[in-house]
Amino acid sequence: MALMKVMTILVLLVSVSSNLAQSNNGGHIWILVSETGLEFAKDYLIKKVITTTLPLQLPDIENKVKIPLIGKVRMGLSNIQIDAVDVQSSKIKTAKDGIVLSVLGATANLSMDWSYTYRASFFEISDHGDASVEVKGMDLRITATLVNDNGSLKIVSRENDCTVENIDIHINGGASWLYQGVVDAFQKMIISTVEKTVSIKIVEKMKRLDSFLQSLPKQRKIDDSAAVNLTFTGNPVLGNSSVEVDINGLFMPKGDDIKVSGSHSSSFFGGVKRMVTISVEEEVFNSATLVYFNAKVMHLVIGETKNGSILSTSDWKLILPELYKHYPDNKMVLNMSVTSPPAVKITENGIDATIQLEIAIDVQDSGEVLSVARISSVC
Ligand SMILES: *[C@@H]1O[C@H](CO)[C@@H](O)[C@H](O)[C@H]1NC(C)=O
Ligand SMILES: *[C@@H]1O[C@H](CO)[C@@H](O)[C@H](O)[C@H]1NC(C)=O
Ligand SMILES: *[C@@H]1O[C@H](CO)[C@@H](O)[C@H](O)[C@H]1NC(C)=O
Ligand SMILES: *[C@@H]1O[C@H](CO)[C@@H](O)[C@H](O)[C@H]1NC(C)=O
Ligand SMILES: *[C@@H]1O[C@H](CO)[C@@H](O)[C@H](O)[C@H]1NC(C)=O
Ligand SMILES: *[C@@H]1O[C@H](CO)[C@@H](O)[C@H](O)[C@H]1NC(C)=O
Repeated sequence: MALMKVMTILVLLVSVSSNLAQSNNGGHIWILVSETGLEFAKDYLIKKVITTTLPLQLPDIENKVKIPLIGKVRMGLSNIQIDAVDVQSSKIKTAKDGIVLSVLGATANLSMDWSYTYRASFFEISDHGDASVEVKGMDLRITATLVNDNGSLKIVSRENDCTVENIDIHINGGASWLYQGVVDAFQKMIISTVEKTVSIKIVEKMKRLDSFLQSLPKQRKIDDSAAVNLTFTGNPVLGNSSVEVDINGLFMPKGDDIKVSGSHSSSFFGGVKRMVTISVEEEVFNSATLVYFNAKVMHLVIGETKNGSILSTSDWKLILPELYKHYPDNKMVLNMSVTSPPAVKITENGIDATIQLEIAIDVQDSGEVLSVARISSVC
């Protein structure tokens, strides 16, 4: 039943409401992501990026090195890939230029294959094997700014920077000079390749996050009668360690627009620390009830008792003894209609709803339906 659905939605909305928001960009629902919420989002994002990125393949590297007593050796590293990353410390904060996410002192493990060839008198000598690399002190800093673009959120300025402090190379097999040769020829190149590849990957992930934000629907159908307008209004507001976004949030009949009357009113107050705070304005409730009223779904006909038997005048003989006297044991129908859009008022103590209800009692008497009573009530 649609009315039930509205009520459920309203109850759901109310149960998460509590207003800390200071600004209002013209939305009727404000979502405030607090410091704990940002922390959660950060940890989730880092975990998600790591699991969806690894193993990360790096480009092959080649170099010619002069080795004492041997001469010029051509060395190559291939199948270089980052297999594991461990993030121990990360931070998220809001700054003037956006949201800044930083990862400090992360470590990573790489695996790779090495090979070399050189000419000794008339022979070509070559060898190959594998190696592992530990990356230490990897720092990442990502700055993103969120703006409203035609009702969607968009990430505009992205800045990201990856630096690696040090690497340890462990070579399996090879000649005695190999280790120093690889370190001399490749240490800096491996570091810069890791830095560059991780940065490129982060830009890629940010682009994907951006297109995800842009693809969020601007309205969501709730049922056959109603949809809710999910258009973002205004730019996200950065607090000290929070982000607030505003959503239009009004209910509308599925398909077309509706004007909703009513005054702006801020909603709930409370200082509980939450990840996400959603504040809902009175107008959201009123737009919901108006849409459902106009769709004529606030209407209920009861012809059966709770346990499934046909409702009869005897069920109501204590409440309406006159009715029972005139029509003993006749089948009866209660026809309840909401006669004007319920008005919802939000106060500090909660929600007051005024509902004008009309109940018609019909009785079946020898095949005829008689309207025997009409009750109007305001509750
Ligand atoms: C990298 O390898 C070392 C040594 O095998 C291991 O102790 C460490 O936990 C590994 N790190 C990650 C992030 O898997
Ligand atoms: C803005 O969004 C509306 C509704 O989604 C769409 O019809 C319109 O084409 C968009 N305008 C621009 C400039 O993207
Ligand atoms: C933001 O943080 C700074 C320093 O941490 C503090 O001085 C300032 O009062 C805070 N502003 C608000 C609005 O909380
Ligand atoms: C949805 O909300 C936006 C922002 O308030 C508004 O511009 C737009 O007209 C609304 N769309 C409908 C269909 O009401
Ligand atoms: C449920 O049905 C039983 C008989 O099946 C009847 O005696 C009882 O009054 C009914 N209860 C209600 C609440 O109508
Ligand atoms: C219930 O009442 C409404 C309005 O008073 C009327 O349109 C409808 O036909 C009634 N339904 C039944 C089953 O009596």
